[in-house]
Amino acid sequence: MSTIVKPLLRNRPMTEQDLSAVMAIESRAYPVPWTTGIMRDCLRVGYHCWVYEQDWELVGYAVMSAAMDVGEAHILNLCVRPESQGVGVGRRILEHMLDLVRESGCHLILLEARPSNPAAIRLYRSAGFEQIGRRKAYYPLPDGREDALVFALDVSGSID
Ligand SMILES: CC(C)(COP(=O)(O)OP(=O)(O)OC[C@H]1O[C@@H](n2cnc3c(N)ncnc32)[C@H](O)[C@@H]1OP(=O)(O)O)[C@@H](O)C(=O)NCCC(=O)NCCS
Repeated sequence: MSTIVKPLLRNRPMTEQDLSAVMAIESRAYPVPWTTGIMRDCLRVGYHCWVYEQDWELVGYAVMSAAMDVGEAHILNLCVRPESQGVGVGRRILEHMLDLVRESGCHLILLEARPSNPAAIRLYRSAGFEQIGRRKAYYPLPDGREDALVFALDVSGSID
C-alpha cells in the first residue's frame, strides 16, 4: 500500500542572501526568467517574498504584492525547482500565499499564467481560481510573445 506524504516545507522571508540560489532556480524554471534586478526590486519595495526549504535546501519561492487600499493581492511569481515539481510543493506554497492574503485583509487575489503551462493552470483551478480575462502578448518568449490568462480568487468568504 502506498502512502502520500505531504512534503514538509519550511518557509521564511526571502533575503538578499537568497538571491543567487533563487535566481539559479528561476533561470532553470522559466523560458524567460526574471532578472536579478527585478527580484531585488521586489525585496526592496517590501513585497511578500518567501522561500521554501526542504531538508535545508531551497526548493521554491513566491513573490506577491498586496494593495491594501483596494484589497487586492497579486501573485507575481510562484516557482518550484524542476527536480521538486509534481509532488505537491507548488500546492503548499500557494496555500501559504492564500493564508498571507487572508491575514493581510485583502479579499481578492490575482495572478497570470501562460496558456502553455498546464501544471500552473491545474494548480490554480484546483485551488478555486477562475479565469477572468486574457492579456494579449503579455509574456516575452525567446522567439516572440505569449498571451497571459488572468485568474482571480475571492478569499473573503473563505473559512480555514
Ligand atoms: C507550476 C508549478 C508552480 C506547480 O508546482 P508543482 O510543485 O509542480 O505542482 P504540485 O505538485 O503542487 O501539483 C499541483 C497541481 O498541478 C498538477 N501538475 C503538476 N505538474 C503537472 C504537469 N506537468 N502537467 C499537468 N499538471 C501538473 C498536479 O497534478 C496538481 O494538480 P492535482 O492535485 O489536481 O492533480 C511548478 O511546476 C513550477 O514552478 N513551474 C515553473 C515555474 C512556473 O511556471 N510557475 C508558475 C507561473 S504562473
